[in-house]
Amino acid sequence: MKKKDIKKAEPKSKTLEGPYQSPKGMRDLEGNDYFAFQGFFEKAAEVALYYGFTPIETPVLEYEEVFERGVGQETEVVSKELYSLRTKSGDRLALRPEYTAGIMRAYLEHGMQSLPQPVMLYAFGSLYRHDKPQKGRYREFRTFDVEILGSEKSINDAITIKLFLAILAGVGLTDISLSLNSIGDKDCRPNYRRELINYYRKNLGKVCTDCVERFKTNPMRLLDCKSPECQEIKTGAPDSISYLCEQCKRHFKEVLEYLEALGIEYSIDHTLVRGLDYYTRTVFEVFQKQANLAPPSVGDPLTSGTGKLALGGGGRYDYLAKALGGNKPVPSVGFGMGVDRIIDLLDKSALVPRVIKKPKVFFIQLGTAAKLKSLSVIEILREAHVPVAHSISKDSLSSQLATAEKMNIPHTIILGQREVIDNTVIVRDMQNRSQKSVLLTELPQYIKGLAKK
Ligand code: HAM
Repeated sequence: MKKKDIKKAEPKSKTLEGPYQSPKGMRDLEGNDYFAFQGFFEKAAEVALYYGFTPIETPVLEYEEVFERGVGQETEVVSKELYSLRTKSGDRLALRPEYTAGIMRAYLEHGMQSLPQPVMLYAFGSLYRHDKPQKGRYREFRTFDVEILGSEKSINDAITIKLFLAILAGVGLTDISLSLNSIGDKDCRPNYRRELINYYRKNLGKVCTDCVERFKTNPMRLLDCKSPECQEIKTGAPDSISYLCEQCKRHFKEVLEYLEALGIEYSIDHTLVRGLDYYTRTVFEVFQKQANLAPPSVGDPLTSGTGKLALGGGGRYDYLAKALGGNKPVPSVGFGMGVDRIIDLLDKSALVPRVIKKPKVFFIQLGTAAKLKSLSVIEILREAHVPVAHSISKDSLSSQLATAEKMNIPHTIILGQREVIDNTVIVRDMQNRSQKSVLLTELPQYIKGLAKK
């Protein structure tokens, strides 16, 4: 082995010194940011449940082959962005860069074909792509994902799109646009692909170097090049809809009819092909109309030709099951929503999770007997669903009051020696400093009454 090869085989890892930061492109979620994500996922799950979907959780790691075969070796998501690792026992695993392949793996593994079809699932959590971090683009990002597995009926394409929009509307996002295309199936796509290749072969001298590479490895992806020099060629390229076979044409027509019946506006984007290999027939992406997200880097695999960042996208994938070793096709359709991007557009304070809540009262204890009794008081309030803040490790009244003031909590509950004996607490209004002694048995009711005022 030459010296140069050795260097390549063992990339030098950077030596870091503390204090450490989170890995590039990954971030901690805490406080209101955390609650905004939790609130979004709760809302999305609620809407999906109403539409008849049930939850599934798949592992964050899958065998690397699930993505290589499912998503495609030549896709950027697999060839450039996969976080892969070898375990101590030699297994090749990868952090999931998307949900669909893992969910189909689970469907096949657990014999879900024998359940009434289609099987309608949703999942949410973190995905990992070693991409160039920028606004709206992270290496760890979160999606809400929905899949309808085991039916080729066009109404399922319409349901997924409707559900996507219903979730966005549920969190207050209605200013959106839907782009749609059909890229055909195994019968008609080869004809289209051939035409596309012929067209680009004649124009290879006029396109960017990335496109020359795509021409060799993944010609369908020529259509989502963002490079200015390629736009004219792209506009003149043959469109897939003109090459659809009868069945695909009918399927697409039906999808459009359902959307129209539902009053959903859409535009057909001939350059929308999506960056993952498993798609057949319908593909779609959703954007904010007044996009204020930074335009993506040139060659971004996840945007349509518009240059805006997609809030999510999806489509039909009728051959994925076969690619993953299934013995029968499992025609399916689904989408993934980019939750980090969606939350960036929303008023975070409007995404309140069901169970959190800002503490309504601050609990203060004074003296040993009160400290001993304090956990029972907090438990009484928890049972009554009253969230409490405290600094129970502190002893002095002034330092506990100072914390309550800093946290801007309107009422404090004070438990001193005397209150311990009387089974009461003092409830203090932090604004006008008025105080009232309240029996412990009446405390939850009293606090709830304050919250209503
Ligand atoms: P995707 O378009 O690759 O589709 O990802 C779904 C969404 O995740 C994107 O539209 C975008 O909003 C968000 N996203 C992707 N990469 C990033 C990133 N680096 N940072 C922040 N957000 C990002 C899929 O993954 C398919 N599995 C969706 C699907 C489900 N198709 C059928 N079923």
